[in-house]
Amino acid sequence: MFNSLTAMPADPILGLLTQYRADKHPNKVDLGVGVYKDPVGHTPILDCVKVAEKIRLDTETTKVYIGPTGSAPFNQLMGELAFGASHSVLLADRVRTVSTPGGTGALRVAADFIKRCNPNAVLWVSDPTWANHTGLFEAAGITVKTYPYYDYDNKTLKFDQMLAKLNTIDKDDVVLFHACCHNPSGMDLSTDQWDEVVKVTVKQGFTPLIDMAYQGFGDGVDEDAYGVRQMAAAVESMILCSSCSKNFGLYRERIGACSIVAKDSTTANVALSVMLYVIRCIYSMPPAHGAAIVETILGSPALKQQWLAELKVMRDRINGNRTMLVEQLAANGVDRDFSFIARQKGMFSFLGVNPEQVAILKQQYSVYMVGSSRISIAGISQTNVDYLAKSIAAVL
Ligand code: LMR
Repeated sequence: MFNSLTAMPADPILGLLTQYRADKHPNKVDLGVGVYKDPVGHTPILDCVKVAEKIRLDTETTKVYIGPTGSAPFNQLMGELAFGASHSVLLADRVRTVSTPGGTGALRVAADFIKRCNPNAVLWVSDPTWANHTGLFEAAGITVKTYPYYDYDNKTLKFDQMLAKLNTIDKDDVVLFHACCHNPSGMDLSTDQWDEVVKVTVKQGFTPLIDMAYQGFGDGVDEDAYGVRQMAAAVESMILCSSCSKNFGLYRERIGACSIVAKDSTTANVALSVMLYVIRCIYSMPPAHGAAIVETILGSPALKQQWLAELKVMRDRINGNRTMLVEQLAANGVDRDFSFIARQKGMFSFLGVNPEQVAILKQQYSVYMVGSSRISIAGISQTNVDYLAKSIAAVL
């Protein structure tokens, strides 16, 4: 039966990891997968995570099934982190949150949930969006279409075109927004632009699905949730997918959350029952370890402060890398304007070179980035930035 299979191409993002690891070049640079790296290129375990794991080891008493909702304290704390503890939707008991295997697990739960709400719903994603969004939703049988977003020529948002498209979207459809740190462009909506988007969402009546994979990597934990909080305050129904991979550095623990905001608590309970059904049919129940770490941190004022401080170190380093790359390119005689990189937010930007140049950077200079020229800014360091800038200057 397997003889009819055709091999699939390697994943455009994850496939780079294998190639990078096999590369023997002494100056190789990894700007591929979106993972935080410290100045020596290591992805560390946060100190607050180490403390929480020790507490967990000392206090855990059972490994019995956790159940499809996952951990109740984690779900509660994640809702508060995303919406803010005193948000009206939490006070009105309109939110139901489940723990999921990573942010991708949250998106898949959302996809199957949407399919049960409206089998014909179209999911609208920004052009461009995270490379896995389209495949993930299509795998759940959902039609995916795009709305204009990034202006590659001017390195800005196509905001007017985006609004014009949103103004035509049907009330039975779903529109996916990135809460912050837009992946792959690094181009975020300003607070004023979010206000406009919220207004259109209410007017058109479609359901917003917000993907928040980088809370705390843009301007701060609360600042990055501006759109989520404004949207939740204004709409009747909404879906939020969160990830703890990046902001807690828990990539391999696979922990995230999917929250449904419904018009009232009765509807929220029905929505939760449907989510639990779809979860049971996909993976039965989520892993417990990552949730236990996060709830230990968020549930302790001291550990939460420590986490916020460690998150700020990561955020500041990435922002510093942005400026460092722009300066180093200029220092290496590149006269093209790369200042947009310093203005963008989060883990990624498009370098703006063409696919042939991306290929040369990889083959001749061992500089790895996604084919779209998306670079993971965290992979830059004081040690590699000069080599990186010289390599980019050479291909330009
Ligand atoms: C990325 O975009 O690089 C990350 O979200 C990792 C992934 O799974 O693609």
